[in-house]
Amino acid sequence: MSTTLPPGILPVVPLDRKSRKPLYKQLYDGYRNAIVERRLRAGQRLPSTRSLADELQISRIPVLNAFEQLQAEGYFECRVGVGTFVASSLPDALSRPARQARQATPASLSAATRPAPRILAKRSVAAPPPAAWPWLEGFEPFHCPSPPLDHFPLKVWSRLVARHARPDGRDLQYHFPMGLTELRETVAEYLRTSRAVRCEADQIMIVSGSQQALDLTTRVLLDDRSPVWVEDPGYFGTHHALRLAGARIVPVPVDDEGLDVDAGIALCPRPRAVFVTPSHQLPLGVTMSASRRLRLLEWADARGVWIIEDDYDGEYRYGNLPIASLQGLDRGSRVIYIGTFTKCLFPSLRLGYVVLPRDLVPSFATTRRAMDMFSPLFFQRVVADFIREGYFEQHLRRTRLVCRERREALVAALDHEFGSSLRVTGDEAGMFLLTLLPPGHRDRDVAMRAAGHGVRTFPLSACYAGRARQQGLVLGYGGYRPAQLEDGVRRLGAVLGGNRS
Ligand SMILES: Cc1ncc(COP(=O)(O)O)c(C=O)c1O
Repeated sequence: MSTTLPPGILPVVPLDRKSRKPLYKQLYDGYRNAIVERRLRAGQRLPSTRSLADELQISRIPVLNAFEQLQAEGYFECRVGVGTFVASSLPDALSRPARQARQATPASLSAATRPAPRILAKRSVAAPPPAAWPWLEGFEPFHCPSPPLDHFPLKVWSRLVARHARPDGRDLQYHFPMGLTELRETVAEYLRTSRAVRCEADQIMIVSGSQQALDLTTRVLLDDRSPVWVEDPGYFGTHHALRLAGARIVPVPVDDEGLDVDAGIALCPRPRAVFVTPSHQLPLGVTMSASRRLRLLEWADARGVWIIEDDYDGEYRYGNLPIASLQGLDRGSRVIYIGTFTKCLFPSLRLGYVVLPRDLVPSFATTRRAMDMFSPLFFQRVVADFIREGYFEQHLRRTRLVCRERREALVAALDHEFGSSLRVTGDEAGMFLLTLLPPGHRDRDVAMRAAGHGVRTFPLSACYAGRARQQGLVLGYGGYRPAQLEDGVRRLGAVLGGNRS
């Protein structure tokens, strides 16, 4: 068995120099207990007797005596020329001492010995546990989000990473919560130009992905039970963040023009905030119409309602010109604009940004300081150079073409496999599309069965904060070559009974 921890990291072995118990016995007991309680595991390397004696500031004799006894009793084993290790074959009873205690059920315990309740915050259990969402696991087609990582310019990226791998002293220090000035300036210029966002660098906070921006926003804007509108169906990440925040979620229907503002007003006329994805609604894929945008902004301004615009994949549009942001139309400084590098670079980067109305900057900065203070500076520098030196723009251009091609391949494969029995919507933008299932199918069942055939699909019903009104599957395509998409569709056909199964 191999372990990775270097031997210089010592286990907690209490030593009492004033005790009548000899030091060697204290050391022996300490190590023996650490092994019995499985704090030290079989194969784990132990320090040399000399360095342990130095570290504990005691003579080497008691350490030698304790080690000798532990070795004689089979707890330690010595490998010549390598060092001393916790024995790789401990008696079974020793390696699983906690089992009995773990197996004790409440019924087998008397009331007096029954463990006290383990109370968690209601908010923390309001979001579904990961086991209930098996479709989020695995990266086979049609996992979402699904950027074309096979086209990511790793050579350029590695060069920029190497450039910043040796930070100067300033970058090793704490930083202020808004993020790296160079990146904020670059992002501000990019957003003004390509997304028509009205902003300056001092309004931009760099965050660890848009999920953190959503969490941060709920902390700054919402009180317990504050009513908020969400799109229904909508992004489950937003729903989860709001449940964690203890907000009162008001599901508002979405139609062909995006969020139905009048339906929202009828359901809840005075929400604290509205969460929307106007450029590319998740999961229906519609774009909010100009008249709905103006209606929402006008009403929000008059009522003092905050609007949170999640522009998570606005860079990717195929049929027509890019859609300007909602924030760009906002005259009342009501919109908090969130963007992310998850789709246009890669998800594990965990970098995104929030554009704040200027008067909210101090509250966001103070709240962020109490969370994780700021995002690591290293990748902020890399991304700033990646954008400033033109690689971002090149990557966007290339991946837009790649995604368009993949989308066409998926639409053609779905048409070939299912014909008109499966309706496809929302394929004008982004990296996913939605297929609506014919009557009689439950999308969660289909998604479960598809997972058994090596296909990941996200059930539309899981996107509803209220009662699910339609059954469908969200299919991500950006990350898969046409042949993979075609194979995935064939497998889906086997589950759903396509033309060729
Ligand atoms: C609506 C929406 N917002 C945001 C994100 C991205 O989140 P993050 O930036 O935290 O990776 C996604 C990813 O799928 C999304 O679908």
